[in-house]
Amino acid sequence: MQPDVKQADAASDDAGQPSTSRGPLMSMREISKSYGDRKILDHIDLDVAPGEKVALIGPSGSGKTTILRLAIGLVKPDAGTINIAGRYLWHEETPGGLKPARDRHTREVRRSVGIVFQQFNLFPHMTALENVREPLVHVMKLSRAEGEARAIDLLVKVGLADHINKRPAQLSGGQQQRVAIARSLALQPRIILFDEVTSALDPELVGEVLTVVRNLAHETDMSMLIVTHEVSFAADIADRVLMFDAGKIVEEGSPAQVLKDPVQPRTRQFLRAILER
Ligand SMILES: Nc1ncnc2c1ncn2[C@@H]1O[C@H](COP(=O)(O)OP(=O)(O)O)[C@@H](O)[C@H]1O
Ligand SMILES: [Mg+2]
Repeated sequence: MQPDVKQADAASDDAGQPSTSRGPLMSMREISKSYGDRKILDHIDLDVAPGEKVALIGPSGSGKTTILRLAIGLVKPDAGTINIAGRYLWHEETPGGLKPARDRHTREVRRSVGIVFQQFNLFPHMTALENVREPLVHVMKLSRAEGEARAIDLLVKVGLADHINKRPAQLSGGQQQRVAIARSLALQPRIILFDEVTSALDPELVGEVLTVVRNLAHETDMSMLIVTHEVSFAADIADRVLMFDAGKIVEEGSPAQVLKDPVQPRTRQFLRAILER
């Protein structure tokens, strides 16, 4: 497959080496994706600048999760390019232009991306500590002792110092989600994706998870792409808000503009619907 490609947009320097100092940290160009004959995403362009926090809102089924799955390489686009920290996810740069990437290249590029899912996806037979430590030992190749030290630091950071030796079944949903956040952070991604990370939680547990993400957003220079229905949370942490509908970005701007004074009828209708829940 030879996707339609606009090479000049990418954040890589002349030697094709990863660029850290200029250009977007993540850049999607002309991304389309269909399942069967249903077009799920239609020519999406989406950039996230280094350190930028972007919130993605929009109705169920509009393609938000698909965008995140594309950004972390779990789903391959039908057309278009995805560039992360100066390297294409599905292509390798050659003197003759972009060529389809080998699996190893894609695996390496996607290591710059972390994700936290709606469902916590922890290993049920492992403790909180083991859940965070295992990727450090197996993926990052740290020693057990180094992995353990970093895992403990991260679990303390998300407020779980007293729970490190518990298994998921012994933790509340909010605590499990905080373990999942610590596990994603452990691999030191350049960009982290959050997919409605509070929507599977009981209402009284939402706040503790939002607080962890909010603190992270305010403290870190990692880029973030956050799918959420929590409007005040999005207003607080996002530099930019994108409104998605039917596989397209229909409105985009500052939180004050998109969330408080939307221009598009679809955005107004969506915000009214979620505020009335
Ligand atoms: N693996 C898949 N196979 C077929 N259809 C899918 C698949 N994943 C998502 N879809 C469809 O794509 C559309 C967008 O889904 P999704 O990205 O999950 O939307 P959102 O996260 O905004 O609710 C939905 O209609 C969904 O049913
Ligand atoms: Mg979704």
